[in-house]
Amino acid sequence: MERRRTSSAVVRRLTGLLAAGLLVAAVTGLIKLGEPHVPTLSLLVLYLLAVLPIAIFWGTPLAVVTAVLSVWAYAYFFVSPLHSLLLADAQNAIGLGVFLVTAVVVGELAARLRRAALEAQRLSNEQSALRRVATQVARAVAPSVLFTAVTEEVGRLCGADLARMERYEPDGTVTGVAAWSRVPAHLAVGERFDLDGLSIAREVRRRAGPIRLDSFAGASGAIAQEAQTIGIRSSIGCPVTVGGRLWGVVAASKTNDIPFPAATEAQIAGFTELVATAIENAEARAELMASRARVVVTADRTRRQIERNLHDGAQQRLVSLALRLQTAQTKVPPELSELTAELDQVHGGLTDALDELRETARGIHPAILAEGGLSPALKSLGRRSTIPIRLTLRAQPRLSERLEASAYYFVSEALTNAAKHSQASLVVVTTDITGDALRVEIRDNGQGGADFSRGTGLLGLRDRVEALGGRLNLDSPRGAGTTLTAEFPLTGS
Ligand SMILES: Nc1ncnc2c1ncn2[C@@H]1O[C@H](COP(=O)(O)OP(=O)(O)OP(=O)(O)O)[C@@H](O)[C@H]1O
Ligand SMILES: [Mg+2]
Repeated sequence: MERRRTSSAVVRRLTGLLAAGLLVAAVTGLIKLGEPHVPTLSLLVLYLLAVLPIAIFWGTPLAVVTAVLSVWAYAYFFVSPLHSLLLADAQNAIGLGVFLVTAVVVGELAARLRRAALEAQRLSNEQSALRRVATQVARAVAPSVLFTAVTEEVGRLCGADLARMERYEPDGTVTGVAAWSRVPAHLAVGERFDLDGLSIAREVRRRAGPIRLDSFAGASGAIAQEAQTIGIRSSIGCPVTVGGRLWGVVAASKTNDIPFPAATEAQIAGFTELVATAIENAEARAELMASRARVVVTADRTRRQIERNLHDGAQQRLVSLALRLQTAQTKVPPELSELTAELDQVHGGLTDALDELRETARGIHPAILAEGGLSPALKSLGRRSTIPIRLTLRAQPRLSERLEASAYYFVSEALTNAAKHSQASLVVVTTDITGDALRVEIRDNGQGGADFSRGTGLLGLRDRVEALGGRLNLDSPRGAGTTLTAEFPLTGS
């Protein structure tokens, strides 16, 4: 491989030499044309036209060669004795010397300018690519979209022919999560690979850092064989580290032997850091969702437990007390009318307390929700509403317990708000299953102006809906009623 790299450098140098010869010859011809009209020594400067492009495209060493060639050509064709490299007069010798130095200095400057321009271009490309990826991270796009975007950006920026991203699995394998290539190649995405043979992922894990591979020739293992089929030669791999643990690897490969520039690892690191940030964000979001869901579920379970305790405990005792009182009343002699009246009052008070307790228990968690499901529970809620209500309940099938509870409390709080704040003459409650979501809408024709920042009820609703991965929408323009819509996904809730 070293030999191949040397031979391509030799070809490049030979092409440069040929270009230098042609350019010097062309300028010599030009000077020949101007010779009868202009002093030839002043035309010497035209050789810079040959030196400059060579300096820009082939660098300073070849520019020096071109300058020397130019001086020879000038001495040979234009300085007496003609067709000889000897210089008879000192003036010409000094002129040629000055030209030589000037050409070398100008050539070196031009070469440096070119290098600076290329570096600036590279940096600007890198910054643009990083910005594009950072925007996607900020937008929290789906991980698969981000992985694909990063893999393509890395591939293009490094001048690679192929790039891929792989995730380390707990069982010691890797899964391809994204791939990009500019050559016809099938790179498996979504498939798992063993790391038993040579592979970039295995080397990155072993070294716990970036690695370079020059060849897969003769190597065994599924990945190495795939690499051989595609014709991968020069490769580079960089780790993706999330919260201190090795999460995956980004690899770029070429089908030629020209090594990646020295700065490539640092370049790729900028992208792997963004990928790590996105993964950390996604994991934090998932944890937050799960913990919100746990809070909601725990709160609902507690309400249900309180309702059961009230029902089976205090409520039952009051019922049996009322029955015993009734029995006792029958035993009171008719002449004790005052006592009878007193006991009647106690019985009435006991029945009121029982009703109140039932009502409280229903407010905490209606038993009918667990027994009959969402629609019967909403109907019972509607019957107790203090403002006129119209129910359109199309969500018939039984849903998961926490989804039914969330939808019920959602309607319950929205109805309480409508009664408390809206001054509406009608509230319309609609439930529907659309696609894979339960849609619940409460619309009133009141004064509008509902605002999340003025209480805890609406905020609690948003938490409740989002905890189940749903979306809450509030539309409440002043003077034009309030519509609260919640969409709960049916899957996972
Ligand atoms: N249907 C509605 N019509 C008009 N205004 C509303 C409606 N619902 C809510 N609002 C307004 O939005 C505010 C916030 O409602 P939110 O339910 O968060 O708080 P609250 O009802 O005032 O108190 P709580 O925290 O006990 O629920 C209310 O104070 C009220 O001004
Ligand atoms: Mg409220």
